[in-house]
Amino acid sequence: MAATISFIIWGLFITDTVWTRSVRQVSEVHDPEDWTVHHDFDCPRECFCPPSFPTALYCENRGLKEIPAIPSRIWYLYLENNLIETIPEKPFENATQLRWINLNKNKITNYGIEKGALSQLKKLLFLFLEDNELEEVPSPLPRSLEQLQLARNKVSRIPQGTFSNLENLTLLDLQHNKLVDNAFQRDTFKGLKNLMQLNMAKNALKNMPPRLPANTMQLFLDNNSIEGIPENYFNVIPKVAFLRLNHNKLSDAGLPSSGFDVSSILDLQLSYNQLTKVPRISAHLQHLHLDHNRIQSVNVSVICPTSSALPAEHDSFGYGPHLRYLRLDGNDIKPPIPMDLMTCFRLLQAVVI
Ligand SMILES: *[C@@H]1O[C@H](CO)[C@@H](O)[C@H](O)[C@H]1NC(C)=O
Ligand SMILES: *[C@@H]1O[C@H](CO)[C@@H](O)[C@H](O)[C@H]1NC(C)=O
Ligand SMILES: *[C@@H]1O[C@H](CO)[C@@H](O)[C@H](O)[C@H]1NC(C)=O
Ligand SMILES: *[C@@H]1O[C@H](CO)[C@@H](O)[C@H](O)[C@H]1NC(C)=O
Repeated sequence: MAATISFIIWGLFITDTVWTRSVRQVSEVHDPEDWTVHHDFDCPRECFCPPSFPTALYCENRGLKEIPAIPSRIWYLYLENNLIETIPEKPFENATQLRWINLNKNKITNYGIEKGALSQLKKLLFLFLEDNELEEVPSPLPRSLEQLQLARNKVSRIPQGTFSNLENLTLLDLQHNKLVDNAFQRDTFKGLKNLMQLNMAKNALKNMPPRLPANTMQLFLDNNSIEGIPENYFNVIPKVAFLRLNHNKLSDAGLPSSGFDVSSILDLQLSYNQLTKVPRISAHLQHLHLDHNRIQSVNVSVICPTSSALPAEHDSFGYGPHLRYLRLDGNDIKPPIPMDLMTCFRLLQAVVI
């Protein structure tokens, strides 16, 4: 009996020792010195492989003209601010784990991107290609992509089907490009089931982009030449909460008959347009930018609807108008400001006039 017990204790002791040793061995493999030795083999000469962050490869700001061979362990690849013109398939052939590529500030053209170079990266989530020389949205892209950053290129075309499989894309940034209205086909945005932010500021659009994805929450269209918004435009984007249309050519006549009376919109920016009246808004709107338009007088009942103007349930549950921040500076509003308008302004947290 005693012998059996001591055998069990001895057995546990042995198991414990073995366990401890195997743990130590694993941690030895992760020892920084060990990584340095190991990575002398597969850290591209031009780049830096931090021993403490073995999934990252730093090759930025080095005057590189070509993408080095990417080791298979890499998740995060930093290649920004180089002189890279092409994205061939070859250097990525083993880089199946890549999640993140930063190629901002290079000289990449569409002709330089080999067909399968990007689409073979089956786990890629973030692709940064800002400040390059792209004339089209690159295609095909990996279906796994969540963010596509293409600001400050020369993009004027979106090839058919480019976005049709990108069901996980949440952010598409195309600001500061050369998009005109005919860049969009009927089905350009079809398939972007999860797109939340669309930025097309600083392009050459005269019309609102058509048939946007239904989950769009943030729509940024500043610095275009948009003259109007079609009737019922917001029906297809029922979640839109942040709408920026600063620096466009919107006039009163260009607005839909219900104006911006859309209950999902919380932040509406219409600075630097050609409006002469405060457009209709919803009681849920919180921030309204109307500075630098041609507004001469303000209809109080539009921005401060009295509680009697709201449906009864608003009253009884205390859901009054939510407007808190209003900008009206840079318009033609002449003093003195009428008494009822002053009273209205006092209900808001900030008014810039
Ligand atoms: C990919 O891995 C194979 C096998 O290890 C190797 O022969 C090849 O050179 C690698 N390719 C690149 C671009 O590193
Ligand atoms: C989209 O994301 C979900 C959840 O993270 C994931 O399960 C799915 O595989 C992704 N789709 C693609 C095409 O990568
Ligand atoms: C729009 O243009 C104005 C004036 O040139 C500039 O100040 C502003 O930063 C631009 N905004 C965007 C989002 O491009
Ligand atoms: C002010 O707005 C209200 C509500 O939208 C409207 O009924 C009324 O006609 C407007 N008044 C003027 C002078 O435009």
